[in-house]
Amino acid sequence: MIDKATVDRIMEAAQIVDVVSDFVTLRKAGVNYKGLCPFHDDRTPSFVVSPSKGLCKCFACGKGGNAVHFIMEHEQLSYPDALRYLARKYHIEIKERELTDEEKQAQSERESMFVVNEWANQFFQDQLRDTVDGRAIGMAYFRSRGFRDDIIQKFQLGYSPMQKDALAREAQAKGYKEEYLLSTGLCFKRDNGQLVDRFHGRVIFPIHTLSGKIVGFGGRVLDAATKGVNVKYQNSPESAIYSKKKELYGLFLAKQAIVKHDLCFLVEGYTDVISMHQMGVENVVSSSGTALTTEQIRMIHRFTENITVLYDGDAAGIKASERGIDMLLAEGMNVKLLLLPDGDDPDSFARKHNATEYQAYLNGHQVDFIKYKTDLLLQEAQGDPIKLSRLISSIVHTISVIPDDITRSVYIRETAGMMQMEERLLVSAVAQEIAKAKEEKRKQRENERNRNAATTENRTDGTMADNAGTASAPEAPGPETPPAPFPDGKDAPAEDRPDGTESPSALAFIPGKGAEEMLFYRKELLLVQVIIRYGEKIVCYAEDEEGKEVPISTAEFIHYALQEDGLLFHNPLHKRVLQEAIDHIREEGFRAETYFLNHPDNAVSSLAFELCDDKYQLSKYHSKHQKIASDEERLDELVPHLISDFKLAIVDEELRQILLKLRQPGILTRKEEYTAIMKHYKEMKDIERTLAKERGDRVIT
Ligand code: CTP
Ligand code: MN
Repeated sequence: MIDKATVDRIMEAAQIVDVVSDFVTLRKAGVNYKGLCPFHDDRTPSFVVSPSKGLCKCFACGKGGNAVHFIMEHEQLSYPDALRYLARKYHIEIKERELTDEEKQAQSERESMFVVNEWANQFFQDQLRDTVDGRAIGMAYFRSRGFRDDIIQKFQLGYSPMQKDALAREAQAKGYKEEYLLSTGLCFKRDNGQLVDRFHGRVIFPIHTLSGKIVGFGGRVLDAATKGVNVKYQNSPESAIYSKKKELYGLFLAKQAIVKHDLCFLVEGYTDVISMHQMGVENVVSSSGTALTTEQIRMIHRFTENITVLYDGDAAGIKASERGIDMLLAEGMNVKLLLLPDGDDPDSFARKHNATEYQAYLNGHQVDFIKYKTDLLLQEAQGDPIKLSRLISSIVHTISVIPDDITRSVYIRETAGMMQMEERLLVSAVAQEIAKAKEEKRKQRENERNRNAATTENRTDGTMADNAGTASAPEAPGPETPPAPFPDGKDAPAEDRPDGTESPSALAFIPGKGAEEMLFYRKELLLVQVIIRYGEKIVCYAEDEEGKEVPISTAEFIHYALQEDGLLFHNPLHKRVLQEAIDHIREEGFRAETYFLNHPDNAVSSLAFELCDDKYQLSKYHSKHQKIASDEERLDELVPHLISDFKLAIVDEELRQILLKLRQPGILTRKEEYTAIMKHYKEMKDIERTLAKERGDRVIT
């Protein structure tokens, strides 16, 4: 358990821009910062960070929140673990009591795996440096490859002893559980129950996440020990924390350099990355020998749009990686190739050159991918018309995946020139290819929809469909459990009602889905907004039973006003905001805005963030004195006004839904249903009349 004071200190220290910047390149945009969203495929910067509010949010996918939420989402941590993460980052000491055995067990599996990996990483490094074998075998190997000590240190390279259970024994002696040694893949289990170190006798390359945590390891066999071992690299298996497809080797150490140079080099292997660092080229990552995935591309894209792929340069190599390069283009990256001479890889090439030569070569030999491909294929086709037409479709496809219109047309022009064909032919071929892809996507979506619809039909198993189409939405409740803006007795028991009258019937016809488009919903949002912004501010004073004046806050005012007519907010999240405001309103120093913006539930704080944005102005209500007062100064007018607006709108909508119900064929023959609808109709009409009267009264006075 982390105490409240410590949480406050962490929240204070964790400046949102600083926290997000570890993962996303931010650029200043007015009072805020913007960047590519780390949570979805973002090609235009939709991720907005507000330093003044301490929040971030993606305006495309909606993810975000305060610094803790960001870390929770990004690092996939629980709330307390995200706090611990930030405490570490800002050197804030957390005083936590010793965990009980139960709590230890309850700690997330992922977190335990990270802990074991962290320990193992240190173990491997210690073995390399501080043991006779480590130095004689592991260190000697790295030295023979020309790795400098500072580089070995920087990449935290290590050594796993020859002895097959060195790590397993040490780990268990230290109290690490077998379970996690197995789930991380550090060890595996023989049939006889014995634990064996996966990487024994290998040099170790730890694999870091973007934030520097250890998700896995690559272990390379030593040249001296190759006999009987045919796998050059052993890698950690896929696990709850490691997915080869999602990680990029070296990105943790490269991200700043990538931003600085606005360019990322992509190489094949661990040793290529390391050698390039040694040559002073730090903006380099490796996909660990496999084809690049979309996830990896998006990670790079958050730091730069420019990627240069290093190749050993034969036609076969290019063809094999063509799909990967089309994917890079499709993600909106500018792709260049860098060909290394004579079958060298970046690592072997490094050993033949000094840093200056190396960097000069990199600078001088990057070629545009599409140009290169066209050139290469043209040479290959040698005027053969069949090969030539295949070449054209391949180039057309590559150009068609580029998302940006202008870039695409530049390529079309250049390629047409190179192939000596009419530009307009190429334009129309590319257009056709784009149309084809769109059509395919559309079909795919349609199929998905059909599949979903089929499942839904099964789910609603014959319950009456209502006119607003709610029955087709899977989460829409049937008529027995209305998604009501009206209380069902549990939400607002009759005895709580100020006048003691029976609350209106539980029937309500506004559908659970699609309500966002309705007028009342906007009014509801406005009320939620004042609750969040001004919940604790005083709207008016009322007399209690002893005739004493008591202040009524905005939240309370809204709460009572809704209760009076037996109304509730439609959206469950909105209900919750009101309820929590009421629950805390009497607490010393309670401020609704701070409370909701820092809410541990991301859904709540995101809503708060959205509604606190200055672009939402309540505005159009002018004060009595015609001067434009701030919302806060005229809460006494604003709040009642918003309430009656909301009430009118929701009753209006309810009446509209009732009329729709009444148009159902055969409704007159279903006596019970009909009576219930009519009762509800009368109730709504009553509220409507009262509201109209109130409003009229106010206009007159
Ligand atoms: N790789 C792997 N498993 C293998 C072979 C390769 O995971 N059995 C991955 C490693 O990430 C490796 C990369 O593919 O770094 C490239 O493979 P390769 O070029 O064969 O290895 P190098 O990195 O060049 O390693 P070395 O120079 O030590 O031979
Ligand atoms: Mn190599």
